[in-house]
Amino acid sequence: MELETRNSLKKYMYGLVNSALRSLVIKNHGLEAWEKVVEHSGVGISDFEAMEPYSDEVTYGLVGAAVTVLETDVTELLFEFGVYWIEETGPQQYGEFLDMCGKDFPGFLSNLDAMHSRIQTLFPALQPPSFSAQVLENGKIRLEYLSERPGLEYFVRGLIEGVAGRTGVRAKVDAVQPIDTSPHGLEFLISYSE
Ligand code: HEM
Repeated sequence: MELETRNSLKKYMYGLVNSALRSLVIKNHGLEAWEKVVEHSGVGISDFEAMEPYSDEVTYGLVGAAVTVLETDVTELLFEFGVYWIEETGPQQYGEFLDMCGKDFPGFLSNLDAMHSRIQTLFPALQPPSFSAQVLENGKIRLEYLSERPGLEYFVRGLIEGVAGRTGVRAKVDAVQPIDTSPHGLEFLISYSE
């Protein structure tokens, strides 16, 4: 991530996000690789308190360093992280929140704001994104994603893929467009089939 972008971030994320990234890197590449990522990032923290907020600069710094150290690209890493969040982090530690979104794909995507609101009772300083899903003609969904954070398109794509797997459908993102009224907002056009 460009330094300029990082400097403009004044948001915080709970440590559980950084912990999940740590688990993903350790699972796929081992603890030594994670230690290298931390060193390269310069953030100076290797282990995180799930319920403590950390500057977004920490998270973006770790992602940027992981891309370099693991010789991958940012879209691939973020996509993988999105899938991992739904398949592993969520079920292992926060399953009740995923369960409340239901078992059907469009219904799940329609419940994301209610879910993050429920999570906010546990994490009061949560600064979540906002989603709104509109079911179009058969098998198509328009998903609006509003966020104050830049650069997360491929994280959202990975989350969508993970939700599709969890709800037993095959989903494909057909198009992504910016939303003019929101600096980092994106509209995803998705098709899915049982
Ligand atoms: C397992 C249940 C979940 C928990 C505990 C959770 C919690 C969180 C937390 C702590 C953050 C960081 C923001 C902050 O700390 O202020 C976050 C961000 C985010 N969450 Fe969730 N979340 C969950 C499920 C989901 C699902 C199912 C989706 C979408 C399919 C989603 C989409 C996002 C996105 C895109 C962000 C990035 C922040 C942004 O775009 O501004 N989350 N969530």
